[in-house]
Amino acid sequence: MPTYKKQTMDGVDFKGKTVLMRVDFNTPLDKTTRRMTDPSRIEETLPTIGELLAGGAKVVLMSHLGRPKERDTALSLYQAVDYLRRRGYDAMLAPDCVGEETEKVVREAKPGQVVVLENLRFHKEEEKNDKDFAASLASLGDVFVEDAFGTVHRAHASTVGVVRHFTGSTAMVGRLVEKELQQLGRLHDPERPYVVVLGGAKVSDKAEFLEGLVRNMSPEKVLIGGAMAFPFLRARGVSAGGSKVDEEDVPTAERVSKVLGDRLVLPGDLVAVEVAAKVQIPRVFELRGYDTLMLKSWAAYDIGPATVERFRTEIRPARSLLGNGPLGVVEDPRFESGSRGVYEVIAAYPHIFSASVGGDTAAMVRRFRLDGRMSVISTGGGASLMYAAGMDMPGIAGLPDAR
Ligand code: 3PG
Repeated sequence: MPTYKKQTMDGVDFKGKTVLMRVDFNTPLDKTTRRMTDPSRIEETLPTIGELLAGGAKVVLMSHLGRPKERDTALSLYQAVDYLRRRGYDAMLAPDCVGEETEKVVREAKPGQVVVLENLRFHKEEEKNDKDFAASLASLGDVFVEDAFGTVHRAHASTVGVVRHFTGSTAMVGRLVEKELQQLGRLHDPERPYVVVLGGAKVSDKAEFLEGLVRNMSPEKVLIGGAMAFPFLRARGVSAGGSKVDEEDVPTAERVSKVLGDRLVLPGDLVAVEVAAKVQIPRVFELRGYDTLMLKSWAAYDIGPATVERFRTEIRPARSLLGNGPLGVVEDPRFESGSRGVYEVIAAYPHIFSASVGGDTAAMVRRFRLDGRMSVISTGGGASLMYAAGMDMPGIAGLPDAR
């Protein structure tokens, strides 16, 4: 199990330095308007940015947003720059993240100013951890600060590739990463019973971490809802009608189900709509194996009331809880009551050490106004799962240890 003691910003002199800082400004966007719906991931980095600026540095921020295959103006980081300006920072957007024009913008910026590089994923080299691309990014700063906790589970050019260009005391973790590692570290020796509540849609992304979590941490219960539940239901031979299942996730679901046995709790009912209907009226379906009445023309968007009750019953005795991913399509008020019912019970029990992790989960908890009653809200989704599973994280592992 990694217990990181990495170099931090303590005692480092930033005066006159250009600090290249990896942040995770991958904020939730409205599906229709593409406007940022929750700026928490930006807000959480402000203590680090503020400290660097107060120390006399020029700060160059780099982030991805979404999963673009090419340049896509809807996924520009201009909204992050707008937000920083509204919060009183002297921030500007570079035309790209590499190249001469960008280098010029960085060169001409003054200490006290913030340059936000354009979306890293407009270049395919980022996710490939391309050496030359990493070298170009690294050339933009004298010092590297890793503060993108939400992305340290990715071995990309901006998280792993850049690090080898900074030696000794010139690479470190930022204040957000420092805080997240410390807070979530409590889940490495969780008080029991330990309950994990998983939802959301990035099933294939999370499967590996879920396997690690089950193997290394043996939670007493794993409750699965949202789109994540569909491959698990399939693995148990239960049909969820026409709800979309990624076939590639089914073998993993089978493996994890076998290990978990009766510690795995899946939905017993779902709220679904008839996909092709002009007026979509949600209806609750009880799931009863392949004889379920939920036809292929119906797709589920939330867990049903009996499942909410079952999940609440499993959660009440917990002493530690990790929650990641909404349990339904919470953006639509018709499908938020499952997640609301489950997270309300987590919030109601102060004896539970609860970590709600991930951008969408954090946004959901805030929207339900439950944030003040969660022990920890983390900016990292996949990253938190990987860390809670006790796995080594590529974006942290390569950073120099504290001296
Ligand atoms: C996240 O939202 O989990 C991080 O920003 C990483 O994004 P990714 O899953 O697209 O790599």
